[in-house]
Amino acid sequence: MLAAGKGKRLRSSTPKVLHPVCGRPLLWHVLQTVRAARPTKIVIVVGPGADDVREAVASWGITPAPIFVEQTEQLGTGHAVLAAERAVGRVTEVLVANGDFDPVRPEDLRALLRTHRRTKSAASVVTAEMDEPGGYGRVIREGDRLVAIHEPADASGAELGIREGATNWIVFRRADLYRALPLVGRENRQREHYLKDVYEILLDRGERVSAVRGETGGTIGANSRAGLATLEEVLRSRINAAHMDAGVTLLDPATTYIDAGVKIGPDTVVLPLTFLEGDTVIGRGCRIGPSTRLLDTRVADAAQVTFSVAEGARIGRGADVGPFARLRPGTVLAAGVHVGSYVEIKASSIGRDTKVPHLSYVGDATVGRRANIGAATVTVNYDGYDKHPTVIGDDARIGSDTMLVAPVKVGKGGVTGAGSVITKDVPAGALAVERGEQRTVKGYRRRRDSEHRGS
Ligand code: UD1
Ligand code: CA
Repeated sequence: MLAAGKGKRLRSSTPKVLHPVCGRPLLWHVLQTVRAARPTKIVIVVGPGADDVREAVASWGITPAPIFVEQTEQLGTGHAVLAAERAVGRVTEVLVANGDFDPVRPEDLRALLRTHRRTKSAASVVTAEMDEPGGYGRVIREGDRLVAIHEPADASGAELGIREGATNWIVFRRADLYRALPLVGRENRQREHYLKDVYEILLDRGERVSAVRGETGGTIGANSRAGLATLEEVLRSRINAAHMDAGVTLLDPATTYIDAGVKIGPDTVVLPLTFLEGDTVIGRGCRIGPSTRLLDTRVADAAQVTFSVAEGARIGRGADVGPFARLRPGTVLAAGVHVGSYVEIKASSIGRDTKVPHLSYVGDATVGRRANIGAATVTVNYDGYDKHPTVIGDDARIGSDTMLVAPVKVGKGGVTGAGSVITKDVPAGALAVERGEQRTVKGYRRRRDSEHRGS
């Protein structure tokens, strides 16, 4: 994997191969795709930002564990492959890939290897139809054989009409590759050693080079921010298609944004303008959206989440969330919980069939089963220095606008009066009310109105 390029065209302080597409770095996508080739060894050539790349790759748990090789000067893709020679060792075949991800599909790699082996080629490359072949080299082929790659500058008029471009997914016979590479010069505009110059050397020797058509959604590489956006579009539509094939309904795939690696059960319906991100896992028969963002959130079967945002939360079976709820990290909703509008929950577990229907803040709380948390209840968990816990027992009824000043407990079946500021524990089954006695002044309004007219 070639991952040492500076990525100048992105104008970024992040190494190019770590730029995310559909929620995962480009290099992550490359490493997922390469599994289709069943590599016995993975070598990653790194350069600027090497430590960041190593750290990211280590966190993905790739097997076999990649070996890193430093390319100290970025003298081109041919030079990068040469830098990996020792680490590659004595294998028979070397598959090269760009770390900035030419989006071929796993089946394209399997086809590449099949053709390469069947035709006993010295090298074989995946090619693809481009929407805008623009600056890319044109593939000149005879049947399955690659004859040449013509740069736009040297292509004839007829050749400029060719829309087939070459990716950098190339499999080589190792011995031929490393015999040819030292012969590759730098006589080009960028003064770099181009990997593709190996083809010409092999062809001159009478070796066969195969060109195997793959599918990249009309785009190759991600060299600019615009290229990243196009790649995002291509991968997003593939991800969405795969979920639909697996039995998920997407009402409007064009406005549904699902990260690579998100799991969704069959018969779940995802409504427009919904973002499913990170390590989110959704069960069967759920209804998610519209306008919902779930990040690293687990949703059990038959749950519903609408117009809401959740991060690091767990939503139980048949639970129903929103509209306009916010679940922050550490929220655990048991089965059948209802969380309604304008509710924020953080680091709290809410027991089975409990309802938090309106306008509440619940933080650092443990709430039992079948409790009802009245409108505008607040767990007052922060005293300006520390966070404190609130415990609410099964079947409790918290009156509207209760302030639960933590640390505090409401026992099983306990009740609080609306508008109370609860600072002491409420025993099981008890009522706690904290508010001034109501004063009623009879005839007040009539008196005030006549005073007003008189003045
Ligand atoms: C490259 C190919 C081009 C192909 C295209 C497909 C070459 C010369 N050109 O062009 O034929 O159509 O990919 O996407 O191979 N890198 C290094 N060390 C270096 C230079 C680059 O590791 O010294 C890495 C980069 O990080 C990148 C990859 O190699 O991941 C490709 O380099 P890039 O500059 O993006 O090449 P392209 O212009 O895209
Ligand atoms: Ca590139």
